Amino acid sequence: MSNPLAVSGGTPVRNTATDPWPEWPLHTTEEWESKIEPLLKEVYFSGHEGSGGAMIKRFSEQYAQYTGTNYALFMPHGTDSISAAVAGALDLDGFSAGGEVIVPNYTFVATASAVLERRCTVVFVDISPETFTIDPEAVEAAIGPETRAILPVHLGGHPADMGALREIAQRHELAIIEDCAQAHGAEYQTKKVGALGDVGAFSFQASKNLTSGEGGMVTTNDKDIHDRVSAFMNVGRAPDGARWEYPRLGWNYRPSEYLAAILIARLELLEAQTQHRNRNATYLSDALKSIAGITPPQLAPWVTKHGYHLYCLKYNREGFGGKSRQAFVDALSAEGVPCSIGYRSPLSEEPGMAHVAQKYPNLIRSLPCPNAASVCEQSVWLFQNLLLGSETDMDQIVEAITKIHGAWN
Ligand SMILES: Cc1ncc(COP(=O)(O)O)c(C=O)c1O
Repeated sequence: MSNPLAVSGGTPVRNTATDPWPEWPLHTTEEWESKIEPLLKEVYFSGHEGSGGAMIKRFSEQYAQYTGTNYALFMPHGTDSISAAVAGALDLDGFSAGGEVIVPNYTFVATASAVLERRCTVVFVDISPETFTIDPEAVEAAIGPETRAILPVHLGGHPADMGALREIAQRHELAIIEDCAQAHGAEYQTKKVGALGDVGAFSFQASKNLTSGEGGMVTTNDKDIHDRVSAFMNVGRAPDGARWEYPRLGWNYRPSEYLAAILIARLELLEAQTQHRNRNATYLSDALKSIAGITPPQLAPWVTKHGYHLYCLKYNREGFGGKSRQAFVDALSAEGVPCSIGYRSPLSEEPGMAHVAQKYPNLIRSLPCPNAASVCEQSVWLFQNLLLGSETDMDQIVEAITKIHGAWN
């Protein structure tokens, strides 16, 4: 046999010490000097580092335009953005039971914890095994008299089946709150996520495709939702109200002007980066589809642009001599292609969530989720920064997987 697997002491396909993957967020001296530093300097000398400054206003307007929405409200985190979106869409103050919100059982913990934080009941439902996003049929089956909203997650950047969800929401008079934390720039039938439901919530946390280290955004076309979210984040004030006047109760979720300055510079690059990731993902999927045991990400027909925060493939051990998914992830990582198994189990089974369900049975209702369970057993995630590499970099990913496939068959 030629070169043994790196995990068994062979030479890796890629030596990441000498040949690192693009480091996220991308950072260059040129960008610092020409874009970031002048914007941060503008904040520093403006005398407005907190609320009421020009940067947050500018960035929010740009983000609203980018997503094709009327309003965008900048927040400190994606988690707060979901809470604020729930409060805004359902007109909740958080002091009484808010009704049920239907959530996919394959997502980051914050999707559900932010709903619980607003005193709503989370109803966990199954996902589509192809797109990893909420299954509209499972949603329809879960609707009960207390249901108030559907909360689709555009997982990894793949837009959920918004057409079917909108039809269901309309028929049952439910709100749609989009979790867009992993889907900046993704499009459903040419319309950007965040503009497809009643309200959308984004994250600008460090790993996200648009980042300021931490940060979030709520987008909406609805003036009433905007005003309620604005009150939620700004101690209950009306958008143009007096400083010491509080028509609602709200909290302080106002971010710093410095974060908006960084995001203004990075938003300029987002569209080109999204296209770059899409080109590389298409190239990679084309090469991987012939390897038995690997299912590249499957795009639904409504996807006109994937967000590719994650490149989620499915691993079937039968194609790899029966070797476990964990063994594959270890072997691929050793070959210089960093990857992860992703979410370990359906969210309802994570100890923190299971504990809440046991202690407060009225706060969590979990329906059978066989697809979420099987995706948790089969998925392998590659992260978005790998897709910012060159075509030759994609060839190395294929070479590493082919090498493992050959060694185990
Ligand atoms: C699907 C999803 N929802 C919500 C969040 C929460 O965002 P943040 O970490 O900015 O609070 C994340 C972040 O990882 C996420 O992936």
